[in-house]
Amino acid sequence: MAKPIYILNGPNLNLLGAREPEIYGSQTLADIEKLSATRAQAGGFSAVFRQTNREGELVEWIHEAREKGSAVVINAAAYTHTSVALHDALKAVDLPVIEVHLSNIHRRESFRHHSFISAAADGVIVGLGAHGYELAVDAAIALAKSRTKAP
Ligand code: DQA
Repeated sequence: MAKPIYILNGPNLNLLGAREPEIYGSQTLADIEKLSATRAQAGGFSAVFRQTNREGELVEWIHEAREKGSAVVINAAAYTHTSVALHDALKAVDLPVIEVHLSNIHRRESFRHHSFISAAADGVIVGLGAHGYELAVDAAIALAKSRTKAP
């Protein structure tokens, strides 16, 4: 059985659906979890889907994914723009890493334009709402499969 895809979500994403729906859409995090799990299963993988409001917990989950996962999909939310700790944790992961954001962070306030995650990610998906998670899971699976093929 393949190891799961870790899909990690940062602060305030537990409020999706109610929080600034004009920016983040009306789907809840539970809706996104279902979409992501379905997509992972279609690709032959299971998903570990988590959310926390604490930076250190995200760091610990990234460490867990290093050992127990096939790939990491991460929406670090506001920590994207502030966290060297998450950057360093992701650099230590020898697995595919896909960064995802619901909104197009480049079309928003300038403080959202820089991501500490991007330099540690294989790919970045922004601005496509919940569908971005499905695309991120697909990309993570494609990369995980190509990395496990014999050279
Ligand atoms: C976000 C974008 C971040 O700038 C913001 O802090 C979030 C959500 C997104 O998914 O669009 O909380 O990561």
